[in-house]
Order: sequence, then structure tokens, then C-alpha cells
Amino acid sequence: MKTFFPINQFQSLKTPFYYYDTSLLRETIDCINKEAKKYEKFCVHYAIKSNANPKILSIINEGGLGADCVSGGEIRAALNAGFPNDKIVFAGVGKTDWEIDLGLNNNISCFNVESIPEIEVINDLATAKNKIANVAFRINPNVGAHTHANITTGLAENKFGISMEDVDKVIDLTLGMKNVKFVGLHFHIGSQILDMNDFIALCNRINELQEKLYARQIIVNSINVGGGLGVDYQYPDRQSIPDFATYFATYHKHLRLRPKQTLHFELGRSVVAQCGSLISRVVFVKQGTHKQFVILDAGMTDLIRPALYQAYHKIENITSEEPIETYDVVGPICESSDVFGKAIDINKTHRGDLIAIRSAGAYGEIMASQYNCRELPKGYMSEELI
Ligand code: LLP
Repeated sequence: MKTFFPINQFQSLKTPFYYYDTSLLRETIDCINKEAKKYEKFCVHYAIKSNANPKILSIINEGGLGADCVSGGEIRAALNAGFPNDKIVFAGVGKTDWEIDLGLNNNISCFNVESIPEIEVINDLATAKNKIANVAFRINPNVGAHTHANITTGLAENKFGISMEDVDKVIDLTLGMKNVKFVGLHFHIGSQILDMNDFIALCNRINELQEKLYARQIIVNSINVGGGLGVDYQYPDRQSIPDFATYFATYHKHLRLRPKQTLHFELGRSVVAQCGSLISRVVFVKQGTHKQFVILDAGMTDLIRPALYQAYHKIENITSEEPIETYDVVGPICESSDVFGKAIDINKTHRGDLIAIRSAGAYGEIMASQYNCRELPKGYMSEELI
């Protein structure tokens, strides 16, 4: 069954653009809240990096999620959308001084720290403001996730986090600092993870680390397990809301929280991916030597995931009911990697048809670029087009 797209309204909009089904977004947030609230100590943050469209952010803020930021720009976007400062956390391997200052000035709830030099700088900048910054250590648990190599983050070879071996040293150092308070542990093993065993492996590493810290009588207030829950790119309409029930239950079952500890999540993709589609118009249908090409007005500048990660996104012709034909669907950019899909079966396509590239709500609009001097795509909400 095809999703409903308001094609009449689309005809007057300049393509390409992102279209967000806000009913699906709201239902997704309701489901997250319903499932997370089964466990009183679970707090869910939204990873702003996956989509920072201001209207999307304000819907997510209304839904009560906190914000996970990785830059000063994201902190500003979160504050502008109304996220309360005490629900904002700030991660990232290379926080610059102005970004740390922005976090300090706004009394954000926690800095997720990734190295020793970073803790020293946060302590210095906090001292200058006579403030105490809450810090959590991002630990690299050396857990591999069964996902694309470019989006695996929790292995020792990745640049992220502090290694398990260095944890004691970092804690000792921090305990000796006056203007930082060690409040938590932070982890993130990767993205688009569908195998719950990967999250179980993370839980096991966290349990081991907690035991080690407990032996030193250290119990942190919060454990943050990052994001990573994947979505069904093959069949976006089959389970358009990811299985949050199993995801939260997995953590509940396998992670041993200490009394009073809270468990934080930073979900990005699973919140916004399925509500967004990139809508594009067919510029030409071209007969090649061995195949036929559908050439769109959208390119890798609008949605870079296929070119960058060989990611699959379902492609649909939403204005044709004609018999299925096979095409390579490509963009207009002067790069041979500007391909959305090869040998794709879609309804027979003509110049002027509208094409929907599905599951594009996460890491789509936000990763758009202006390469080839192109305009950035706009984003429209379903509730605005009615
Ligand atoms: N927390 C941290 C520390 C992260 O690095 C990320 C994503 C998240 C949370 C959110 O993860 P999610 O729930 O969305 O999997 N551009 C890539 C994905 C990069 C993910 C980076 N970190 C893509 O298009 O697949």
C-alpha cells in the first residue's frame, strides 16, 4: 500500500523538497513516550543531528523529549525550538571554546566529554565563569555494531570516546578538579542497528564497567547509551514506527542500573526517518545503451546517503499507475556517485512525474549541501499543506 501524498498540493511547490508526515512523527513520539514510561528511570533525548528543521524540533520538544547536541549550532537550534536547558546534553570530540562557553552560559545539563584535554578546558572555562559543569565520560566500549563501517563508532579504532583502560585515570583527574562534576557515563556504538544483540553487548560492557567503578565506591547518577536503533528502509510502510517496545525492554532486561540511576537514550534516526520523503520531479527519461535512466531534479546534494554509504532508500513514482519498468534513478550532479538506485522497479515514468524517495527524514535535509551552486531543499509539513 502506498503512503498518502497530497499530490495536488505538491504540483504547485518547487521541487525538490522534503515532505514530512507530521501525524506519523507525532505517533512515533507518542509510542516512544508510552514505551519508555513503562520504566520509570528512562529518559529519552532526541539527537538533533538527524534533523534540525525548526518545525520538526518544536514538535519533538512538545512531545517532551530532551535534546542531544554535537555543536554550538545544535545547542542554539535546540534552545530556539524551546528545549529546556536542563534537558540538553552536549557531545562531540572537538568542542571549541565558544561552544563550551555557550553550553556553560546556558547551564546545559551535561557535557559528554571525549578526552582528557577536553575535561581540562571545560574545567578552565567553567572556573573563569565561576560555574560547575556536569560532565559524563563518553566511553568507547569497543563493541562492534552490525552496520555500515562509516556509522560504527564504538570500536577502539574509532576516534570517539575514552578507552575502557583509561577510565580510572580520567576519573582520578576529574575528581581533583573543582569546576567539573563527574555525573555520568556515556556510550554510543553506532547507527542503524537492528540486531538487539549489539545493544546487549553494550549492556554487558556497561555492567562490567559499573562493577569496576563500584569497587571504588563510585556510582554515577546517569548512564547514557546513545542512539542507534534502526528503521526498515526496504519497507517503510510495513512498520513505520520502529519497535521501541523491544528496544527499551532489551535495555531493561540486560542493563543493571543501580538504585537512583537514570538511563538516557539519544535517538535520532528512529524518531524521524520514516516521516520524511524527498519529493523530486523527473527532468528526463533517457535511454542508455543497456538501460534506461530516470534523471531527477534532486541529487546527492539533497540526499547524500546513497552516494556516501551506498544506502538504500525506497523509490516510488507517486504520479504513475502504469506497468512496472526497470530504471537507474539518478540525480543531475556532475559526479558518477550521484545515483539514488540502480535497476529500480517503478511504474513507467515520464518527464514531469513526481518521485518520492522514502525514509529520508533522518540525515537527509540536514546533510544537504550547495555543491554545484544548488539551492538547499525546503521542508514542508503535512499539516501545513492541508
Ligand atoms: N548519540 C551519539 C553520540 C551519536 O553519535 C549519534 C549519531 C546518535 C546519538 C544518534 O544515533 P541514531 O539514533 O540516529 O542512530 N549520517 C549517518 C548517521 C550518523 C550517525 C552519527 N551519530 C547516516 O545517514 O546513516
